[in-house]
Amino acid sequence: MLHGRRAEQAVIDRMLRDVLDSRPSALVMRGEAGIGKSALLDYAAANAQAHLLRATGVESEATLPFAALHSLLRPVLDRAEALPAQQSAALLGALGMGGASRGDRFLVGLATLNLLVELSSHQPLLCLIDDAQWMDGESADALMFAARRLHAEPVAVLFTARTGQDFPANGLPELWLSRLDDTAAARLLAERSGALPPAVRDQLLAEAQGNPLALLELPRMLTAEQRTGALAPHSFPSGAAEPVTDRVLAAFRDRITALPGASRAFLLLAALDDRGSLEVLARAAGALGVALADAAPAEHADLVRVAGDGV
Ligand SMILES: Nc1ncnc2c1ncn2[C@@H]1O[C@H](COP(=O)(O)OP(=O)(O)O)[C@@H](O)[C@H]1O
Ligand SMILES: [Mg+2]
Repeated sequence: MLHGRRAEQAVIDRMLRDVLDSRPSALVMRGEAGIGKSALLDYAAANAQAHLLRATGVESEATLPFAALHSLLRPVLDRAEALPAQQSAALLGALGMGGASRGDRFLVGLATLNLLVELSSHQPLLCLIDDAQWMDGESADALMFAARRLHAEPVAVLFTARTGQDFPANGLPELWLSRLDDTAAARLLAERSGALPPAVRDQLLAEAQGNPLALLELPRMLTAEQRTGALAPHSFPSGAAEPVTDRVLAAFRDRITALPGASRAFLLLAALDDRGSLEVLARAAGALGVALADAAPAEHADLVRVAGDGV
């Protein structure tokens, strides 16, 4: 459950309603790391009565032309047949699935637009693109081209991008996610960390500055004595210059460093595989002499979750 995001949820609800009435919309949600961008995309996905297409920008693929478009459109590429031949050839070529052509960028944009429109003629369509700041430029151009040309089709496109990173909105509406207010922050902390002595709780709230990820992660850094209030959490000097997100990221690093080498190798593989298929991961791990059992310490440290056939 999301705390303190009523206004943002209302904006998303509105988009989801509009798309059912064939009023297309697009939005770029911006905010710092851990502020709740992905959580709001999950909210949109959970509440949409629409066909969903999702992709996440991956930093290591930011320079691979059309990598993000490929991951967004992969489930529906069989429908490219419905496009004019030139467009389908350009799109499939760009995605490495057709002839040798790397694709004319205008034709790829047009093909992307028309593929989304074709899909939406059967069912309203919602495209969610997380961490768009890491999308390769070619994919970003094609999706922006399409998003700007929707007029009366039931298609909604929602991007998220991290503050301070380059992802121009090109005239699309933008929504900046601010930090949670005090009430929402206190609720989130209470919900997830249970009872804490008031002084400790107040210090955590001050440190986290309304950043949800910090509210979830800072309490994990408390020692048992700090948790009971027997010892002040001096590890968080108040007014520290370091941004709270940097400290949270540093805490993740510490948790990773504390793992055995094989578990770290497993995490690295899991991070490199954007599909999270256990079968693929097991094969890659085997090639490195890493067993699936090596995931256990990382799972125990809440860094990864292995469930069913996915990671
Ligand atoms: N408003 C909120 N209420 C409760 N939990 C939240 C809220 N916003 C984010 N979270 C949780 O905080 C963590 C960080 O949020 P996330 O969406 O991953 O941030 P971002 O994508 O902006 O980096 C996640 O575990 C998420 O579920
Ligand atoms: Mg995110």
